[in-house]
Amino acid sequence: MSQDLQKIIAGRRAAEFVQNDMVVGIGSGSTIAHVINALGERVANENLNIVGVATSEKTRRNAAQLGIPMHNVDDVDKIDLTIDGADQIADDFSAIKGGGAALLWEKIVAFNSRENIWVVDASKRVPKLNQYLPVEVIPYGSDQLFKRFKSGGFHPTWRLDQNGNPVRTDSANFLIDLHLPIIESPRLLGDELIKMVGVVEHGLFTDVVDRVIIGNENNVVDILE
Ligand code: A5P
Repeated sequence: MSQDLQKIIAGRRAAEFVQNDMVVGIGSGSTIAHVINALGERVANENLNIVGVATSEKTRRNAAQLGIPMHNVDDVDKIDLTIDGADQIADDFSAIKGGGAALLWEKIVAFNSRENIWVVDASKRVPKLNQYLPVEVIPYGSDQLFKRFKSGGFHPTWRLDQNGNPVRTDSANFLIDLHLPIIESPRLLGDELIKMVGVVEHGLFTDVVDRVIIGNENNVVDILE
């Protein structure tokens, strides 16, 4: 079963956790596109009454196009459930996010949500995190920060677009990707990074998720809690 099909079955299963009258945080990325499609169908066919809060401008546009009423994060009293993707999820349920450049809004929505579900294909599950780690940084002074990452052994690279210009996040910041070997202690590393002046947020998500939905081979969806 292809990775795409795994994303579809996991995404559609995740959308079933959404109930009437919920305020739903809606994540970003190709897996969440299937959640958005499924929610759009439910709004149209079942009269599902929900309000969505987007974790990126792209998600806001796509969800609104499918008829999901979208509100700003600061205009809702609470977020009942957030469904988001991840780049990697480790056995301790820590994750790396931000491959799609949306980590800051994703973290804000996740931390303001009563419940969080991550939805991934099987390739995203690893014993320990070992993929590049996105860090969102303020443009002002970011060359200096990059040098500090370099001298600190973080092996940084700039996130660039097809034209070689720095990618701008939805908050108009830059992204620096850190290339580390296995991340043994995500919490410790996250604490170290967030203290560095100029760092807005990092893509390590710990103590966030309540349920992980994984699309596997042979049409099987696993749910870890
Ligand atoms: C966005 O910044 C990321 O955190 C995404 O949630 C993550 O990259 C998953 O994307 P895919 O579902 O496209 O793999």
